[in-house]
Parts: sequence; structure tokens; C-alpha cells
Amino acid sequence: MAIEMKNKVFSLETANTLYQMKVDEYGVLYHLWYGAKTGCCMDYRLDYPDVGFSGNIPEAGNCRTYSLDTLPLEYAASGVSDFRVPAISVTHADGSTALDLRFESARVVEGKYSIEGLPAVYADEKDAQTLEIVLKDVASELRVVLLYGVLAKEDVITRSVRVENRGDQEVVLDRVHSMCLDLPYGDWDWVHFHGRHTMERQVERLPIAHGIQESGSRRGTSSHQQNPTVLLCESDCTEQSGVCIGAALMYSGGFQAQVEKDQMEQVRLVMGIHPDTFAWTLAPGEHFNAPEVILSCSTQGLARLSQQFHHVIRHHVCRGEYQMSKRPVLINNWEATYFDFNEEKIYHIAKQAAELGIDMMVLDDGWFGKRDDDVSGLGDWFVNENKMKGGLKALIDRVNGLGMKFGIWFEPEMVSEDSDLYRAHPEWAIQVPGRAPARSRYQLVLDFSRPEVVDYLYERMSTILRENHIEYVKWDMNRSICDWYTATLPAARQKEMPHRYVLGLYALLERLTSEFPHVLFEGCSGGGGRFDAGMMYYCPQIWCSDDTDAFERTMIQYGTSFFYPISTVGSHVSAVPNHQTGRITSIDTRGVVAMAGSFGYELDLNRLSDEEKQAVAEQVKTYKKHQPLIYDGKYYRLTDPFAGELAAWQWTAQDGSEALVQGVVFRTRPNTLRRCLKLTGLEAGARYRVEGTEAVYTAEALMNGGILLPRTSGDNQPFTYHLVKEA
Ligand code: DGJ
Repeated sequence: MAIEMKNKVFSLETANTLYQMKVDEYGVLYHLWYGAKTGCCMDYRLDYPDVGFSGNIPEAGNCRTYSLDTLPLEYAASGVSDFRVPAISVTHADGSTALDLRFESARVVEGKYSIEGLPAVYADEKDAQTLEIVLKDVASELRVVLLYGVLAKEDVITRSVRVENRGDQEVVLDRVHSMCLDLPYGDWDWVHFHGRHTMERQVERLPIAHGIQESGSRRGTSSHQQNPTVLLCESDCTEQSGVCIGAALMYSGGFQAQVEKDQMEQVRLVMGIHPDTFAWTLAPGEHFNAPEVILSCSTQGLARLSQQFHHVIRHHVCRGEYQMSKRPVLINNWEATYFDFNEEKIYHIAKQAAELGIDMMVLDDGWFGKRDDDVSGLGDWFVNENKMKGGLKALIDRVNGLGMKFGIWFEPEMVSEDSDLYRAHPEWAIQVPGRAPARSRYQLVLDFSRPEVVDYLYERMSTILRENHIEYVKWDMNRSICDWYTATLPAARQKEMPHRYVLGLYALLERLTSEFPHVLFEGCSGGGGRFDAGMMYYCPQIWCSDDTDAFERTMIQYGTSFFYPISTVGSHVSAVPNHQTGRITSIDTRGVVAMAGSFGYELDLNRLSDEEKQAVAEQVKTYKKHQPLIYDGKYYRLTDPFAGELAAWQWTAQDGSEALVQGVVFRTRPNTLRRCLKLTGLEAGARYRVEGTEAVYTAEALMNGGILLPRTSGDNQPFTYHLVKEA
């Protein structure tokens, strides 16, 4: 039994962890524990100090030691006597903002709950359980239903919240976070993933300081600048040992994660939709669903935690025909041609690619409307037959004739002012009446909170997918959203729009992915600006970054790997000098780095030397051979590339039968020993042969003594070792 309810103590057990809560005599729901299994009730750690200026609930009478301000709470509400960051805040019809949540009921349901209109972890009914705890405000009919999905084998607990207005007056929800986690003891660091366009998911590990630290996005998307994932690690936690907890919000809009160290040195994490771009009016009888958070805990360090997230996202978030199957190695024309192409040029690229074993040609931006640069055409999803003679069909037939699949780019959420769509429907673009909207990449955003906008995009995209043999869609989104206003909502409800936009986006994705199950959808937002578990519910891979420079990519992909499975990471070999950094790296280095993901190319292969073409053909073969290991093996980060020396990573097959070690030595130093890299995660007692050599090592030698890397010459030198267990 994964969920136990005994004497108002709720114990959620997974293979290696325990999550525990308790209701006290006043109906207050405490958070007791999230960590290793302890086999007992952790309420012995509760303490009730007499702390000045930390008030007491009315029922405690004159007892000065009972304070919501110092107790570990499961879901903290604002406006009463807990002054830390709240998980929820509301405004009642009379304008008051106090919310005092007490336990009302709880039940366990077999299977994992789902959330209407929002992506959520799914599982077979026999493999998961749901705990629902209903809290009620002491003075109103507002209910807060806390949902916990327990995937025991996966060491995963999901959380979501449903707020129900069972009263007879409107209530405004000002903040509804998806989770709250109080950790009363311990010395904790937090890790967040910050960045910018072409530099996503840089890793920052910081001690949790007194006060509030925050990561978040007010951009209408999950963003390049912060990723909706956070790690809490005990300060001695490393890749291989120690306690860490990860939280990944399954949401593609603006988010907020706050960590607070309070006056008692306790830590609180809250995470959910960003309250600055949110409010929701709940009429009597209505309810609101907060997006889901995936939680996981490891007592064996960060590598293990990442493997848990990789597993749950690959097996219980990603869906569709491409979830588990091999992905085609693709070639994309963006960095090869930008907007300067016609059907002949594309065919020419495809032809060369087919000869080198590449599976799919992807036609990027510029095939539709009047789109010869990025100033016009968005919204006009009709093929430009001046550019593409014979239309899409003629080109697709020729590409298919090469034995290749064909994929295409869309940016459904955008509109150019110079487009037929904008001329016909200027009111569909997000803008505040009487205020000129900000342009970004010259474009405006369509109001996806309007059903007719979503219907129009559905009609356009489904028609193109129905009429053409298209097997892949790249779903791009190239700006942050501001100037929020929708004609569909009254003034008092305008702050609902950012969330309604995300619901519209998910509705369109759901319609298209279910109607076209054979199509592989790849997410994209100027690279990895919407790289989140919400998008992964529809798109099993996402273009990781517009930075295709192999050196920079080692860091971007390192940061990405803490939560997201390698199969989700779109990763391509591009031309040199690299278009983003001007750096020159060898074709081998670019190949090794791009293989740590869903692999492809993004250049005109016709411009390569014969030797480089040969290298590409070899890379494609190597990738296809190792793809099952890369997608389903246990992934390990062997070094921290931000330390500046080398990037190295490893996959070990689940059964220990093989391992692939790859990486890049950043700098060659003169007159020095070669580097010795310690491996990890091999089967104890086993012996491994380095493929292509006679060398055989014990797992213990490789994990304790390391493997001697090749002597390098020049910068950014790649290495690969395929280790095969000896019979
Ligand atoms: C941004 C994407 O990340 C690129 O790969 C490319 O598709 C361009 N948009 C096209 O406009």
C-alpha cells in the first residue's frame, strides 16, 4: 500500500522515500517529512517555541506556543498568522483576504488523477494511487483539495490543487501555487536554471539565505531566463551521495518558485503559476485547477534524482507513437539557408542527406505566406507557391522518393502585422486598446484565450497535415508576451488571460496530436525558451537551444540533464564557424555533443569536404546503433563543464551490459599527463572491454582508477568509449 492513513497521519511511500503529513487537534495539516523511509511517524520533530510576534490561532486560547508562523505546514494560506510566503491567497466578496484552511476529509483512490485541460503525469491504474485531502476555510465555503499522485516504483509524488467555491458569492484567487514544501531542519542549498536566448539552463547552486529567493517567469512562457524546475539539496549532496529533492512544474506559462528561510531557519518552497500575471474569479459552484508539480527525492545524490526524473518524464509524461520508438535522424534547413531557399535548394540538401543515411528533411521557417525575412507573413499558413514551385506536395513526393520522411515548421501562436491574417483580424493580436503593443522579432502574439483563434489555427494546420504527407512538425514560438488584454473578459478579470492563453495552447496541441498520432511534434521557442514538462506531454522532443556551438552546448545540455530525459533534447550538428559564437570545432566534436540528444543536422551537407561527409555517415550509423542506450540507459554527469576543464557524460544500460562514455576536453595543456576520468554506475564485479581495442578493465578499476583519456592537441577535443561487458 503506497498510501496509508492512520490516526490522521498520511504516509505516502515510494520505493525509497516517505512523504508524511499529519492533522493536529485543531485540524491544521502539518508537513512532517520528505526523505528516506523512516518506518515511523516523524511528528516527534515538531516543536512549539514561544516566539514573539508569531501570533496564535484563536482556538489555542492563551497558549503562546502554538503558531502557524513557526509550524511546518502542508499548504500555507495567506492573511492569517503564518507570515511566510503563502501557497494560496484569495480575496473574498467583502474584500477581506484571510484564509484559514483546516482539514475536512481525505480519501484514497486507485490510479493517478488527471487534470481537465492541463497536462499531467499518467500511469496505469494498478501502478499509481491518488490521495485527496480536502481543506476548508474556517469562515467561508471555499475548499482547497490537495491532490497527491503516488508512483511508488518511480519514487515520484505528483501534486496539484483544486480550489472549489461552494459558497454563494464570488471569490478571487490571487495566487494558487501547485505545491508548498516545508523543511524544518537541515542545511539546504537550492539549484535553479537561469539563462537567456542561446544560453538556456545555466546551473546556479546557492545556499538558501534568510529571506526569500526566487526564480520565475512573467513572460507568458516558461522562458529561457528561468526554467520551471528547482532542486533542494542538503549542502553535502553531490552527484553520487546525499539527499536532494527536485520539483518540476508541468506548465508552459509564467511561473514562480520561491524559497524562503524563515526566522527559525526553516525552509519553505512554493511553486506554481506566477501570481503577478494571474488572478481568477471563481463564481459560486466553480472550481480552478492548478497545474501539476512532479516531485522526486533521492538519498543517493543528484545522478539518481535525475534518473528518476528522466524515467517519469519519458514513461509517464511524454506520449504518442514516438514516445518510446526510435526518432528519425533529421536535417533541418534553417542554418543552411535561413529564408533564402526554394524547392530545388531544399531537395538538393535532402538528396545529399539521404546519401549519408539521414532519415528526415525538415523545412523550417519561410515556406508560407509572404515570408522572405522575419518581418512579415506569420499567420498566413498557406504555402508560398512562388518560392515553392508545385507547392508542398511536389517537394514532399521528391523527398519521399529519396526514402526520406518530411517535416515542417509552424509558429502557430504568432502574427506579423504585414500578413493577410492581421489585415483581416487585427483584433486577434494581443494588444491593449489605445496602447501600441511592443513588437518582438517584429511580431505580435495571437490571443489564444479566444476559441475562434485556436479554431482558425486548428483548421489551417490540420488542413496542411491532412493534405500532405508530413511526418514531423516543429512548433516554434519566438517571443515573450506582454500587453496582456483580451476583449473576451471584463476589466476585473483581465488577469485570467495569461493562464487562459496557456489553456488555449494546450487545447490546440491536444487536438492536433490526437488527430495526427503519426506525426512527431517537436517543441521549440527560439531554441529552449519553453523547455518544460508541460510541453513534453505533447512534444516528446524540444529544440534545446538556438546555440548550436558544441562547446556552449556542453553546458546547456548539462543544465538540461538535471530534469529532462536525453530523448527530449533536440540537438544538431551545424556548420563552422558557428553562427552564434564564431567558434570552430571539428565535425567529430560537433557529432559527439549532438549525440547526447535527439540527433540531427542543421547545415548544407553539400558544402562539406568528402572526409567530413564520410564522418557524417559514420556519425549517423553510430547514433542509430547507440540510440536505445542513449534514450533508455542510466545517464550520469561525470564532470561539471562550468568548472572549465572538460565535459563528460555516460550512459549505462539498465542491465549493466554496456556503457557509452563521451565528452569534450576543452583545452590542451602542454607538457602534462593525460587526464584520467573516473566512471560510475558500472556493474560491480564486471569486466568491460573498450570496443575497438583489446583493453579490458574491471568496473572497479574504471570507477576508482578511471580511464585514461587520449592525449589531445588543440581545443575542444572529443572522446568516445563504448564499453561492453565481457561474458
Ligand atoms: C527559432 C528556432 O529556434 C530556430 O531553430 C528556427 O526555427 C527559427 N526560429 C526560425 O524562425
